[in-house]
Amino acid sequence: MTQEDATTDRRVPVAILISGRGSNMMALVEACADPAFPARVALVLSNEPDAAGLTWAADRGLPVAVVPHRDHETRAAFDAAMDARIREAGARLVCLAGFMRLLTPGFVEGWGDRILNVHPALLPAFKGLHTHERALDAGAKLHGCTVHLVRPEMDSGPIVAQAAVPVLPDDTPETLGARVLAQEHRIYPLALRLLAEGRVRVSGEACVIQGAEPSGAALVNPAP
Ligand code: GAR
Repeated sequence: MTQEDATTDRRVPVAILISGRGSNMMALVEACADPAFPARVALVLSNEPDAAGLTWAADRGLPVAVVPHRDHETRAAFDAAMDARIREAGARLVCLAGFMRLLTPGFVEGWGDRILNVHPALLPAFKGLHTHERALDAGAKLHGCTVHLVRPEMDSGPIVAQAAVPVLPDDTPETLGARVLAQEHRIYPLALRLLAEGRVRVSGEACVIQGAEPSGAALVNPAP
């Protein structure tokens, strides 16, 4: 993008933070490729230099950055380095997409209600790791994924969108995880669109979506 394009482009610039494979980042990048989508990718940043998603993004000509957490003595110093890099890129929103570091309260508060995270469970159930194994062990009949605004506590914050999937009798963590991941790729762009359009209002610790149609889709709320 030229300097002139960047100044006339009204789409909200987004930084996407990853730690690994980056399939959710790819889903967001693909959504942003539509000129009608209200956000554009300003930066893909990883704390892991070897993250596979970084190569994918760089190959597509996207701005990429590596801020290795191991190079910083404290979480606050790491977060400050990331924050500087994200602001330098001009981002106005941050999307955590498989970013596996807990952010400090200072970083989170500095961005207010402008950080999204995707989590592979129907929050507030199954925060943390190994969510698919835990859903199977618990005998859950429905599982799914959540996109939420970020608070300093792990996997916490007002829910923007969720999708549920059935847990099938023969499921393994892998088959269930694949079913959930397909829904993550569906609801993360939806949630980013809602936030970028300014349609997400926080009331207490819940999100109210402005102009949302009553959900016609059985398993995604709000409806795409
Ligand atoms: C995704 O399933 C995401 O929901 C999860 O990590 C995976 C990253 O995959 N995130 C969390 O567990 C955060 N608590 P990806 O790198 O292919 O997007």
